[in-house]
Amino acid sequence: MSASHPSPLNPVAFLQAFIVQSIKVAGQLGSLEARDRLRYIEHLGLAAASCLESAGREQQSLDADAPLDQDRYASLIVEIKNQIGGKFSRTSSAPGYVSVVNHVCPFGDAVMQAPELCRMTSSVFGAIGARNFGYAKVHLHKRIATGDGCCEARIFVEPALAQGQPGDEYQSRDGTVSSSLVGGEDPELQRKLSDTWCANRKTTKHTAPAIHMVAESPAMRAALRVARVVAPTDASVLITGETGVGKEIIARTIHALGKRHDKPFVTINCGAIPEGLVETELFGHERGAFTGAYDVHHGYFERADGGTLFLDEINSLPLAVQVKLLRVLQEGTFERVGGSQTLAADVRILAATNQDMTGLLREGGFRHDLYYRLNVVPIDIPPLRRRIDDLSALANHILRRLSEKYGVAEKILGSEAWHQLVSHDWPGNIRELENLLERAFLFTEGPLIEHVLELPGGTSAGAPADGVNLRALKHQAASAAERRAIQDSLQRYRGQIRAVARELGVTTRAVHQKLKSHGIKPAEYRHPVAR
Ligand SMILES: Nc1ncnc2c1ncn2[C@@H]1O[C@H](COP(=O)(O)OP(=O)(O)OP(=O)(O)O)[C@@H](O)[C@H]1O
Ligand SMILES: [Mg+2]
Repeated sequence: MSASHPSPLNPVAFLQAFIVQSIKVAGQLGSLEARDRLRYIEHLGLAAASCLESAGREQQSLDADAPLDQDRYASLIVEIKNQIGGKFSRTSSAPGYVSVVNHVCPFGDAVMQAPELCRMTSSVFGAIGARNFGYAKVHLHKRIATGDGCCEARIFVEPALAQGQPGDEYQSRDGTVSSSLVGGEDPELQRKLSDTWCANRKTTKHTAPAIHMVAESPAMRAALRVARVVAPTDASVLITGETGVGKEIIARTIHALGKRHDKPFVTINCGAIPEGLVETELFGHERGAFTGAYDVHHGYFERADGGTLFLDEINSLPLAVQVKLLRVLQEGTFERVGGSQTLAADVRILAATNQDMTGLLREGGFRHDLYYRLNVVPIDIPPLRRRIDDLSALANHILRRLSEKYGVAEKILGSEAWHQLVSHDWPGNIRELENLLERAFLFTEGPLIEHVLELPGGTSAGAPADGVNLRALKHQAASAAERRAIQDSLQRYRGQIRAVARELGVTTRAVHQKLKSHGIKPAEYRHPVAR
């Protein structure tokens, strides 16, 4: 086992630390009777299981309390053990029965000296099984600790099926798990360990960053409106637009506003995966499906179960895989490569392309039937040069994010820098704007960014059409005047939004919107001395 622990501290890291500690005190364990050693480890395993389960559910965006189905249970125990340092994968799953194998023991070679530690696996699998199905019987059919070369855990979650099979039984009654070895959980130990592990988990909880999408221009507002309308449905959406315009952020917004928001959002870039691997990446493969397929591989469809799958660069999808994707969209089912078991896909599909699909469709590179299935709702995002009204809000938003990222005071753009921005035609769109501003942010010492387009190698900004340029300049001047008026009013009224709204003759909601788009914090005006 690696000596390094993941940081920050979380239940998994804590358990790893505990494992290292247990190995150190193996001598002490050795002084106990064999049965007492097992009971000691079983108690720890039962106590660890509930906290590991809730941390695992959180990581996989699963409901905190609803009982898991068998498939999710299998994914969860595999994921938990692999985070602790195992290399588990599911080998088979039939109704009422799950089997998993492991090729690397989290305890390392030390397990040979203390094979009782395998009990930890039974108790974690058994306790989580019992909590979700009421009953579990776990049999460690093979064990690295006893020289089998791998571990194979067989778990029965139906008592009738388990009858006559070897293994240790776990039951849950009124939320308390008991096992055939130790009876009920040790409530005191359970409480102590949960306090430590779960408290740590709460302080290190990773929440997905909130999505903030700038949409000031009529075109982006229209795109956002469509996103809001389709979000609560399961309709497929095809997002088109040049590189860097915000296709993925729109997809994430649709997911975040929909009913699947607390389930996974999984992205796959079809253009970045070698053609021969796209099918196995999407649909997974069975063990032995081809040379080198030693383990079952869960594809993106399985990983996105219950959530959203974002198929980026869909235009690169090989024809053979298009057929299989069409079937998922039509019937909601698929098989892993080399597998005969039909799996159900509860996945919402969002797709994106930065290439015009008409040529591809005409030349037979993309199936018409699949295209119509994906393109139920089209959203086209215009390039930044055609929605220059978004530029100032985007720049302010990006600068604000940069000051958070680098933990330094906010910086603003001077008039020359603004002029440079609005004179550029943005072939790389918002991604280019982000890169440019980041460079300027890092190389500007004071709070005022004077220049932004000092491109390496002296590349100068392309000049846009005059009409766009003038319109952009007008917009920038208006935006700067608006910002100044709001700041002055906030100053006068010490950050009181109602008073500011009254003075400017707008609603408080409008003031809040403007504050957001200009990146102004009213709190800073409530304590004038601190400024
Ligand atoms: N309207 C917006 N508001 C705020 N940030 C945005 C907006 N649009 C794009 N961005 C930001 O710009 C960057 C590029 O956006 P995104 O990755 O969504 O573009 P894309 O069209 O998928 O690009 P590519 O074609 O290169 O994959 C991201 O960091 C994203 O957060
Ligand atoms: Mg993208």
